[in-house]
Amino acid sequence: MKEFKRTLVTAALPYANGPVHIGHLAGVYVPADIYVRYLRLRGQDVLFVCGSDEHGVPITIKARQQGCTPQDIVDRYHNIIDGSFKALGINFDIYGRTSSKVHEKNASDFFKKLYDEGKFVTKESEQYYDPEAKTFLADRYIVGTCPKCGAEGAYGDQCEKCGCTLSPEELINPKSKLSGAEPIKKKTTHWYLPLQDYEQWLREWILEGHKEWRPNVYGQVKSWLDGGLQPRAVTRDLDWGVPVPVEGADGKVLYVWFDAPIGYISNTIELLPDSWEQWWKSQDTKLVHFIGKDNIVFHCIVFPAMLKAYGDGFVLPENVPSNEFLNLEGDKISTSRNWAVWAHEYVQDFPGEEDALRYVLTANAPETKDNDFSWKDFQARNNSELVAIFGNFVNRAFVLTHKYFGGQVPAAGELTDADREALAEIPALRASLEKNIEGYHFREALKDAMSIARVGNKYISDAEPWKVAKTDMERTATILNVCLQICADLAIAFEPFTPFACGRLKEMLGLSLVWDDLGRCDLVPAGHQLGAAQLLFAKIEDEAIQKQLDRLDAIRAEREAAAKAEAAKQVAPQKEEITFDDFQKMDIRTATVLAAERVPKTDKLLKLSIDTGIDKRTIVSGIAEYYAPEDMVGKQICILANLAPRVIRGIESKGMILMARQGDGKMRFITPQEALSNGAEIG
Ligand code: MF3
Ligand code: ZN
Repeated sequence: MKEFKRTLVTAALPYANGPVHIGHLAGVYVPADIYVRYLRLRGQDVLFVCGSDEHGVPITIKARQQGCTPQDIVDRYHNIIDGSFKALGINFDIYGRTSSKVHEKNASDFFKKLYDEGKFVTKESEQYYDPEAKTFLADRYIVGTCPKCGAEGAYGDQCEKCGCTLSPEELINPKSKLSGAEPIKKKTTHWYLPLQDYEQWLREWILEGHKEWRPNVYGQVKSWLDGGLQPRAVTRDLDWGVPVPVEGADGKVLYVWFDAPIGYISNTIELLPDSWEQWWKSQDTKLVHFIGKDNIVFHCIVFPAMLKAYGDGFVLPENVPSNEFLNLEGDKISTSRNWAVWAHEYVQDFPGEEDALRYVLTANAPETKDNDFSWKDFQARNNSELVAIFGNFVNRAFVLTHKYFGGQVPAAGELTDADREALAEIPALRASLEKNIEGYHFREALKDAMSIARVGNKYISDAEPWKVAKTDMERTATILNVCLQICADLAIAFEPFTPFACGRLKEMLGLSLVWDDLGRCDLVPAGHQLGAAQLLFAKIEDEAIQKQLDRLDAIRAEREAAAKAEAAKQVAPQKEEITFDDFQKMDIRTATVLAAERVPKTDKLLKLSIDTGIDKRTIVSGIAEYYAPEDMVGKQICILANLAPRVIRGIESKGMILMARQGDGKMRFITPQEALSNGAEIG
């Protein structure tokens, strides 16, 4: 294993077009922060870089929708996102932004160097253009009818209704979102990075050299490489982004996926203008990118190829831990459908419970497969793990030490086997925890930390110092001494996961601790004065959980109502052509309902007696879902009189009531616009 002098950790730059949610936190930011906190506790030289990703088409669309500038949008969300990271203890060394001056210059220079050195190829292609707004249109700016499901308002790259991927050519009736005009094709020239030139090198570097990467990451890289790489456009026709620093490139900006990863470097420059190169250009730096699975190709193929093309000794990532997705209450998290738990709302709704979210998102992290977040599970894990095991143990140890020894750490006497056995478990758990964190297995690492709490909780429950104290103060002293050593271990082991509680615990202990203290058993010296017991974790009550569930139910109900309204508008395609003679065969008449009753043991059927003008007869109709019997009596309707009789539920039904049926299934009977005599022929 290569020894590194320092670790540079990046977390994917979140798009500043919306707040971050628990999926982002679980996938990227919480694990990255755990890793960084761990390395810091170990005394290593670490830099933790992140920032907002402030370019790209979705931001311009949002600005247009809200009648403000893209800068307004990114200012708003940058602040919200930055605030929620801080509130959750995600401790970046810098949280920068790609709309900064430093980034604009850095990204621009980066492009210019590749351009000057001939690392790009140019290609002319035909792109959609809005002849009224006089601008090229990104795929998202073209809307039309989905060719797959027929939904209106499908985008040029995707139909949100059926989820299919599209290209603008496939849209039926394409229209520009800007002007409503029909887009035309127009020639434009762009710069491309010829990724295929880097294919062999990527194969050797990743497929040969990094077989230890997570299977989802390695597998995705392999399938991209096996599929053959293509030149990738690094510029776009757009008016929001870093301008292409080349003459004759008016109206063109760097593609957001070209400029954003350079943002990691820019943000480092912003923080460390004089020493940033030490982090980015030294082979002693271990670079680790934390990302979500939708970012794999950009971080494993495109950005490394950009750095390779640039040369100049840029480091490449040593690992790219990437998570799968987190679902919420069984449904895919979706910003556009508002199906999410938003970080900034969580910190408002659960003040002081930041650790609980970090804990649950780690215990449930989608490291190897998609996982689900549910509020009940959140509550259960907080109450029965953090509160009942970790919190309860520490509380008992502190309260009893204050009660029997005035808060002074009592000296341990001779240790019993039980004492030694409890303490002996800790070094083994520490070793496992280290191995797991260093291997990016944060769920497992958290289990190891929790096992230390379980050891403590079981130890104090078995030793029962509150009983022993009635007869044997010396033994009580030893037990509490052992407990307090374990408390100190917990303050260290949990710090990467639940830093707020660990801060309080260290305050209670009156000690500052580093990783290497973990498992030493002599961290808390006899005679040392402890601080007052503080609450480490609070129980989360049913009402708080119910409030969240109610909110989600309301969103679900709203979505279902909207889907129904949409379905109601769906019109079935016209049936096959028929002749006039075909039509003439049908004998359609006006008629009046004389009586109506439900057909017993059915939900859908009504038995109606009808005056057809020709006769009085019975018709059984499947409309009980839409009409109560009393709604029908006395109504004039239209019937198909000469339909061959059928026996339904033992009742002979002669004819059929004409009904209009909407796309969502809703039905209404047809009634003449003005009362007629029964038996009037319709046609
Ligand atoms: N904004 C992107 C996303 O949320 C991530 C950008 S990561 C960077 O998916 F490397 F490009 F910065
Ligand atoms: Zn569709």
